[in-house]
Amino acid sequence: ATTRYYEFVVEEAMGAPDGVEKLMLVVNGMYPGPTIEANVDDRIVVNVTNLMPNATAIHWHGLFQNGTNYYDGTDAITQCGIPPGESMVYNFTFDDWTGSTWWHAHADTQYTDGITGALVVHGRNESVPAYDGDLVVQISDLYHGFSPDLLAYYFTPGGIDGTPGNEPVPDGGTINGVGQYGSHNTSFFNFTLQPDTTYRLRIINPGTFVPLAFSVDGHTLSVVEGDGTPVEPVAVSSVSVAVAQRYSVLLRTNQTAGAYWIRAALDTTQFTYDNPGCQTEIRGVIRYGVAEHAMPDVALLDNPPALPSGSPGELDDGDLVPVGGAPAPDPTFTVYFTMSMEYPAGEDESTSKYLAFINQTSWAPLANTSSLFSHLGNATPTGSSNFDGSQLVTTVNDLSVVEMIIDNLDDGDHPFHLHGYKFWVMDGGAGRWQGETPNNTAPMLRDTVVIPAYNWMILRFVADNPGYWAFHCHIQWHMAAGLLFQFNILPSKSAQFDIPQYMLDMCGR
Ligand code: C2O
Repeated sequence: ATTRYYEFVVEEAMGAPDGVEKLMLVVNGMYPGPTIEANVDDRIVVNVTNLMPNATAIHWHGLFQNGTNYYDGTDAITQCGIPPGESMVYNFTFDDWTGSTWWHAHADTQYTDGITGALVVHGRNESVPAYDGDLVVQISDLYHGFSPDLLAYYFTPGGIDGTPGNEPVPDGGTINGVGQYGSHNTSFFNFTLQPDTTYRLRIINPGTFVPLAFSVDGHTLSVVEGDGTPVEPVAVSSVSVAVAQRYSVLLRTNQTAGAYWIRAALDTTQFTYDNPGCQTEIRGVIRYGVAEHAMPDVALLDNPPALPSGSPGELDDGDLVPVGGAPAPDPTFTVYFTMSMEYPAGEDESTSKYLAFINQTSWAPLANTSSLFSHLGNATPTGSSNFDGSQLVTTVNDLSVVEMIIDNLDDGDHPFHLHGYKFWVMDGGAGRWQGETPNNTAPMLRDTVVIPAYNWMILRFVADNPGYWAFHCHIQWHMAAGLLFQFNILPSKSAQFDIPQYMLDMCGR
């Protein structure tokens, strides 16, 4: 095992990922930020220095942080934000978490402006087929505006285009930080590979709003991992990746030597109004067996060649089965909730914000405190309660198998993420939950799942990891509108956390 040290300097900078100059928030001057690559038994030590005018926190998406909930990096939940001009050290191990994930700012909507990067954890005996090369592919939507301005636009009284809840529509996207926008279209992210070789592409969506579908012209892909869970290989022509999800696919460079377009297509069905300039498909290049600068035929850009008949179709995430998958344990603790988006009851619709609610509670970060710090050592009764009006917390005092039953009463799809855990995706369907018992053969185990519009869904997890863990929609506009609640798991164990004093002292500054 090795200890790996990183210095992250977070600051404002101008950038032009798709050729259009914009204000960004970046780590070490890069977008995306540095990739962290480690082995499962390693320790990671990251010194984050905040040179921005606002407080920040850096979250390690999907990692368990068992015993180190205070390094989960979630502003107002597991820590107080790192004040401007100050530094904080995150110091953690992977607790057997292996696979493909990412890190990002978890304060306000800062990661929309660029504070993201890949995190790759190699396992000793990861159950994925052999491969020769390992590549990270980050596919994301992109906005030309600065996220605080976009957020104000989202909260336009009466709604964007007069429709409450309409989300800002992206201007395009990026593949590993490179996009194309109309005539600003200048360059393409490109990989030069070896022929007859198998590559693992770790496809990550560190975006703000919409899923992107990834494909490579002339090639099929084999899905072998989702959110850190090795899966029985599924052959596909393309993979749709929702915000915060990850898939590894194997690609064999077995076609005619040449250069091929890779594509990341924004899911425009999520768009709430017409944004005429939007670049809805981002392109990159894979080449092998040809010269270093060979480019694919531009005539194919808008006319992708069809795969031979009989080729597989798009990934259906319902087809994913974990390697060695088995039934999930029976629940011992059940929590039911609804989620909706609406005007707060009794408020004037022409002036108030259209917000998101989980069981009637709309989350807002409390200033100068965190849920973890303000409740350390407090005995809290098992079950759900609401404090300060905006904090819905479900406390689990004993080791339990938690079942979440969720009714999405909203007309939007929501990619929900649970911190500190993977959950089993038990079942789901159209309409409200009517008491269905889930099918439980070999459910997929992951940390981010899309709960479709007007659908119910059941998730389960073993609540064995102490701390305050957020469960939230990863669409940044929805999180800012309050679509988040918290689990407080095994508080008698959190009371024994060894939290550095200076982290507690950051509160209130
Ligand atoms: Cu990717 Cu609350 O996190």
